[in-house]
Amino acid sequence: MSLNERIESLKNKAAEFSIEKKENVEEFRLKFLSKKGELNDLFDAFKLLVGEEKRELGKQLNILKQSIEEKLNQAKEKFGSEKKFSADAVDLSLPVNAFSAGSLHPVSIVKNEILEIFEKIGFTVEYGPEIEDDWHNFTALNFAENHPARDMQDTFFVEKEPKGNYALRTHTSSVQVRLMENTKPPIRALMPGRVYRNEDVSARSNCFFHQVEGLYIDENVSFADLKQTLYYFVSQFFGERDIRFRPSYFPFTEPSAEMDIYLGMETEQDARLTKGTGWLEILGCGMVDPNVLKNCGIDPEKYSGFAFGMGIDRITMLKYGIKDIRQMFENDVRFLEQF
Ligand code: PHE
Repeated sequence: MSLNERIESLKNKAAEFSIEKKENVEEFRLKFLSKKGELNDLFDAFKLLVGEEKRELGKQLNILKQSIEEKLNQAKEKFGSEKKFSADAVDLSLPVNAFSAGSLHPVSIVKNEILEIFEKIGFTVEYGPEIEDDWHNFTALNFAENHPARDMQDTFFVEKEPKGNYALRTHTSSVQVRLMENTKPPIRALMPGRVYRNEDVSARSNCFFHQVEGLYIDENVSFADLKQTLYYFVSQFFGERDIRFRPSYFPFTEPSAEMDIYLGMETEQDARLTKGTGWLEILGCGMVDPNVLKNCGIDPEKYSGFAFGMGIDRITMLKYGIKDIRQMFENDVRFLEQF
């Protein structure tokens, strides 16, 4: 049979194929239009032709194909398609399966927020080592040898010669020392990082936590500058709130203070957090002791400065209502994915 005749024969077959019920629709499609269907066989044979014959038969084949497709479409409309998933069945408004990419740790979120607030007023960000020597963690900061102030910070010593000289840093003030030793004022910097203290682990305290400290050194820096800077921070981070300063003591600042913010006592949680006073302590601060400036090679006759330090973990717990500090470091995905 010539290809011409085969086309004619298939045309008749398709026309005679009777579609009387739903099942016949798919049978028709498989017989004539599927990859293994009869129409495809004709196309395969057609590919071997050349010249005028190819042109003519190609036209005929396409007409045949169209008529078979038309018959299928009409049948589909009449009986409905057997196929379960047609393109129309895809609901484009459905939410996609979210790719789970992890998220920032709540402590990082709060740290970044704090850094951004201070970056707006020109503070840079500085980092230093977590294993620190005695000079940078204590001595340069006015902790005299055997001074009881060293007991304020229960230290993890590291076995590295000379003995007793190295420890896990107890605060990021050590980074302040490094910065002052290497930089000519003016200095405006924040030092975020992890610090370690040998404390009993409980819901409220851990043997490591995170701090951000700040340092500002220039000519004529006063306590008023310290207050205004911290007031700006509080208003950006917590919203407009009253703050107050209470006298305190740190070996490296003089005078020293602790700063509280007013939370109020409207909710039970606020009352508990503030121990019934409405005030919550959030950071320590003070004017850098002239002795510390001298230790770091800065002339205290010419320059003065302020410093402050706060615990990020505590502020994070406050912000998100986290009740147990240990939860933040168990790396339980059910906890972490909430932020
Ligand atoms: N380094 C102090 C601490 O860890 C905090 C502090 C920093 C206080 C700077 C005053 C000035 O407790």
